[in-house]
Amino acid sequence: MAEQRTILVTGGAGFIGSHLVERLLARGDSVMVVDDLSTGQEANLRYARERWGDRLRFVRSRVSEAERQILGTRFDQVFHLAAAVGVRRVLAEPVESLETNVHETAAALRLAEACGADFLLASSSEVYGKSPKVPFREDDDVVFGPTSVTRWSYGCSKAIDEYMVLAKAIRGSLRVVVARIFNTVGPRQVGQWGMVLPRFIEAAIEGRPLQVHGDGLQSRCFADVRDVAGGLEALLSCPGAHGGVFNIGSDTPITIRALAEQVIAATGSRAGLVLVPYETAYPEGFEDLRVRQPDLTRIRGAVGFTAGIPIRRTIEDLVAAAKATRSEGRAA
Ligand SMILES: NC(=O)c1ccc[n+]([C@@H]2O[C@H](COP(=O)([O-])OP(=O)(O)OC[C@H]3O[C@@H](n4cnc5c(N)ncnc54)[C@H](O)[C@@H]3O)[C@@H](O)[C@H]2O)c1
Repeated sequence: MAEQRTILVTGGAGFIGSHLVERLLARGDSVMVVDDLSTGQEANLRYARERWGDRLRFVRSRVSEAERQILGTRFDQVFHLAAAVGVRRVLAEPVESLETNVHETAAALRLAEACGADFLLASSSEVYGKSPKVPFREDDDVVFGPTSVTRWSYGCSKAIDEYMVLAKAIRGSLRVVVARIFNTVGPRQVGQWGMVLPRFIEAAIEGRPLQVHGDGLQSRCFADVRDVAGGLEALLSCPGAHGGVFNIGSDTPITIRALAEQVIAATGSRAGLVLVPYETAYPEGFEDLRVRQPDLTRIRGAVGFTAGIPIRRTIEDLVAAAKATRSEGRAA
């Protein structure tokens, strides 16, 4: 029988983190979640607690303040997902977001170093900035706008995280993996910080028109969180991946307009969609990318990753769940 390991997941009560926690528990490990619930919810861990509660521990804390609570626990692996997520959040709270993304990563690295745990950083496709080269490959140059434009600070903060993590690998003090996560969607994602799919589904279910920014012809590749969580788990457990940077996500593009149309079809909404100019959606100014698509050659070679769940199925699952919640709410 495989030896039971102890895993730390920072940000484990968040969207991606909670799915990862379930996978780690399902493979038989003990998991400690450190999360300050700034954007996550303890309810995201309900299923994990019901099923594997004896092997799950939740510590409500910032990573940098958790040292006392977790003193004495030896981790085999650390998945660092805690962050201020998304460009919209950083635009709203620039100072706090930068501090979180840089300082909390330094704190997570200290925790991993204290017990020699393998370390995975949840980085972001935003690290590529506005690189005109498509698809994005891990060794491409990163291209940011000027520092006076706050929008680029999210990608920059994740790039600093990557430098810190990779420096540990170069020095030989830790085994690390950097996962550059592309657009991820699925159960438990919230629309509060502008994430497009939950925003669309919420509007369609409530009979409001879906607000599509710009001309809607900008494209993205959406991966289901259940695939992404599996990929993160596989990467850190693969010795051949250690020291590397990996794109993770889907490489199948869809325009935002087509995404909206799929949501409308799946919900049967009659409210349609409206095009909202960027200047209205982002009064403070915003430079969007026309195309964001990863090259997945490296992660396929390392761990055989595929984003197998098509966006159509993710939408159907989300719509079914949203309708069920709505009718439960009415019945109550
Ligand atoms: N969702 C995506 O499409 C996407 C894309 C690229 C990268 N990522 C990265 O994946 C990771 C997870 O993102 P998500 O989409 O699940 O977002 P999320 O907001 O649901 O998860 C982040 C979690 O971190 C927690 N947190 C924030 N600051 C903390 C701190 N100082 N100490 C402890 N916990 C803290 C939050 O409460 C939340 O539970 C992030 O690092 C994010 O940058 C996500």
